[in-house]
Amino acid sequence: MGKILVTYDSGYGATAVAAETIAETLTEKGLRVDLRPVGLEDLSGYDVLFLGSPIRLGQCTPRIKRFLKKNLTALTCMRVAFFFTCMSVTNDELAQELPLYIDPSFSGPNKPHARIKLMENNHTVSYYLKHFLKFVPGVTPIGIAFFNGRLSTEKLIPVHRLIMWFAMFSLPEIENGDFLNPVAIGSWTKSLFCRMKDA
Ligand SMILES: Cc1cc2nc3c(=O)[nH]c(=O)nc-3n(C[C@H](O)[C@H](O)[C@H](O)COP(=O)(O)O)c2cc1C
Repeated sequence: MGKILVTYDSGYGATAVAAETIAETLTEKGLRVDLRPVGLEDLSGYDVLFLGSPIRLGQCTPRIKRFLKKNLTALTCMRVAFFFTCMSVTNDELAQELPLYIDPSFSGPNKPHARIKLMENNHTVSYYLKHFLKFVPGVTPIGIAFFNGRLSTEKLIPVHRLIMWFAMFSLPEIENGDFLNPVAIGSWTKSLFCRMKDA
């Protein structure tokens, strides 16, 4: 297998830690890995890409969107896995055909779409993916993971703090704390070894 790029955006460090865990897991297996913040424009030389973003207001970050727009053609020729960190996700079972992984440490269980309450609606797998997948037409990911993240409202810039106070008020399962789960991140990464080798 050729080289792997693990690249990410991260506002407050959680997605960076998830990316480091992925890169370490791949390196331990003897694979050749580069780990860097998103921005590299030349993907030639890489066979596999892991791309990570925090979820912000249901979406990936603007930097990730820009990266996807610039590199879409290259992505269609690579093995690509997407990973996200967030504080709440409910699997509403509308994306069953995708290679999805939901961190088992999330408190929200799987729920049929009809049982999703109003405030949960914009924290579901299908809501997050509806916004994300439109940036990657023609790309067939080998994996898509949602990992539990990290939140510390006192460290956020004021506008982000206000947004997250409102989110916490609306959805009680969103709490301050470090919920990053290296075991889940490592086991998802290992589960992709076979699919990466096909590259
Ligand atoms: C402005 C803002 C909006 C957010 N929106 C969501 C959201 O829609 N759903 C969610 O589950 N978490 C949301 N979060 C929480 C982040 O996804 C979570 O804290 C993530 O782990 C942060 O990653 P980072 O440290 O790499 O930036 C939001 C955080 C901020 C600051």
